[in-house]
Amino acid sequence: MLRAIYPGSFDPVTYGHLDIIRRSCKIVDELVVGVLNNNAKMPLFSVEERVKMLEEATKDLTNVRIVPFHGLLIDFARQMDAFVIIRGLRAITDFEYELQIAQSNRKVAPEIDTVFLTTSIEYAYLSSSIVKEYARYGVDVTQFVPIEVVDRIKEKYNRAF
Ligand code: PNS
Repeated sequence: MLRAIYPGSFDPVTYGHLDIIRRSCKIVDELVVGVLNNNAKMPLFSVEERVKMLEEATKDLTNVRIVPFHGLLIDFARQMDAFVIIRGLRAITDFEYELQIAQSNRKVAPEIDTVFLTTSIEYAYLSSSIVKEYARYGVDVTQFVPIEVVDRIKEKYNRAF
């Protein structure tokens, strides 16, 4: 059975993340979406909220599990008995950062490989940070994130758009 980890902050989940999740689910038997619990990153949403939003957005998929984690990604992958990590690549600007993490992870955990999926072109510009920045100033973000996420962002920023 091929189990893979798709890790991230997902603060909040966007259509770009969901594109990678849906495509990964067709490739692997089980996809574990690992939600980083790291308060040092000062997330807008708690890890519980981020997990809940991912669960809602993926409820139609049968081979996905949403699991929070803290600490090192390679330790989490080993705990989950997964030897493949999936990451999305949006543009060349992602490449250097992703390459560095993938290379160092493979140095310390040679049994774990990172596989990159290129983000579908319509989401190549999209990031959680951009969504939050627009929402904070009242721009409607329904084209970027699922409706449940829109509602939660509105609550956070006390905005009606
Ligand atoms: O969605 P993000 O913020 O781009 O995801 C980054 C993530 C969670 C994949 C990365 O920060 C990570 O793996 N963090 C866990 C800590 C870790 O393993 N660090 C070692 C590599 S420097």
